[in-house]
Amino acid sequence: IIRMTDLDLSGKRVLIRQDLNVPVDAGRVTSDQRITASLPTLRRALEQGAAVMVTSHLGRPKEGSWSEADSLAPVAARLSELLGMDVPLVRDWVDGVDVAPGQLVLLENCRMNVGEKADDEGLSKKYAALCDVFVMDAFGTAHRAQASTHGVIRFAKIAAGGPLLMAELDALAKALDAPARPLLAIVAGSKVSTKLELLSSLVGKVDQLIVGGGIANTFIAALGHDVGKSLVEPDLLDTAKQIMADAKARGAEIPVPTDVVVAPAFAADAPATVKAVDAVGGDDMILDIGPETAKRYCALIESAGTVVWNGPVGVFEFEAFGAGTEALARAIAASKAFSIAGGGDTLAAVDKYGIADDVSYISTGGGAFLEFLEGKTLPAVAALEARAQAS
Ligand code: 3PG
Repeated sequence: IIRMTDLDLSGKRVLIRQDLNVPVDAGRVTSDQRITASLPTLRRALEQGAAVMVTSHLGRPKEGSWSEADSLAPVAARLSELLGMDVPLVRDWVDGVDVAPGQLVLLENCRMNVGEKADDEGLSKKYAALCDVFVMDAFGTAHRAQASTHGVIRFAKIAAGGPLLMAELDALAKALDAPARPLLAIVAGSKVSTKLELLSSLVGKVDQLIVGGGIANTFIAALGHDVGKSLVEPDLLDTAKQIMADAKARGAEIPVPTDVVVAPAFAADAPATVKAVDAVGGDDMILDIGPETAKRYCALIESAGTVVWNGPVGVFEFEAFGAGTEALARAIAASKAFSIAGGGDTLAAVDKYGIADDVSYISTGGGAFLEFLEGKTLPAVAALEARAQAS
């Protein structure tokens, strides 16, 4: 991949695709992690004297129409505060953008453009015509083959990987391609079905796989325990058994919880009780791992060489059911392992327990992070590689 950092951008028109798809509430950005992550790239281009155009999507708007709810205006405002400069938002930009060297403009939500999602060739060529250099820096959207993430790379005069994208790829390669062992992955979430490919793919790579949340419940049930009213996928018990069998055959350990925190209902004020997994009753709902399990998991984290974390192991939004996730978060923060965390809920936990500075790498990717861990090729990355090979 041609790296933006190897190019001289002075006086060049540079179109940078970022993933500024951030949560917005009442016209204000509520979490600016992705905007902050894009700043070094933008500052570098500005310092070099480029005329900078930044493109991003926000949400999933209808193509061909503008609506305030889908506008990047709140992002432009936050970006302007963070960069300490005026950041104009350009509403109509596909046919030309007025921007001078040393200036930066934000282009309105690219998913409002007809043909964006279909990776339309005509639209991709128009994007390419806006710039001398196209920089793909949106790791969080690198798993989408769309005009602004993939198509434009094919037609831009020069297509390069931005510093954020490259840092993400380097960190993930470090964690997965040649990891310091033992390699431990924590995969939690409500459903096995949404993380099935991830679990199957990780079983062949990791030394230990900790499962949490509804995924763990399905594994607990597959071992023959009653999980009461817990979130579980009865159709996937055989799949869970198969994953455990595969793990065993490949020498990977899946340490299923031995104790859990249960409650009679899914509520912040529901009374929490610690139970051994074989004592869970018909009216119980498992909402966190128990202290004995947390201790076991923390010991694994302490002796790991690499930790990949995706998903909280309990309902940490409720104080009474956050102890498991907090214990793991603190263990990751304290561990000497190379640690990488990604996914929306995981980042919320990282924030809540204030461990952001103690995780080796925090990914800006949700779906892209998962697809990378699954071993899938990210279309935008493949396109950059193809361009670099052809040059
Ligand atoms: C994300 O938040 O995962 C990315 O911005 C991609 O968004 P999308 O799922 O709407 O393509």
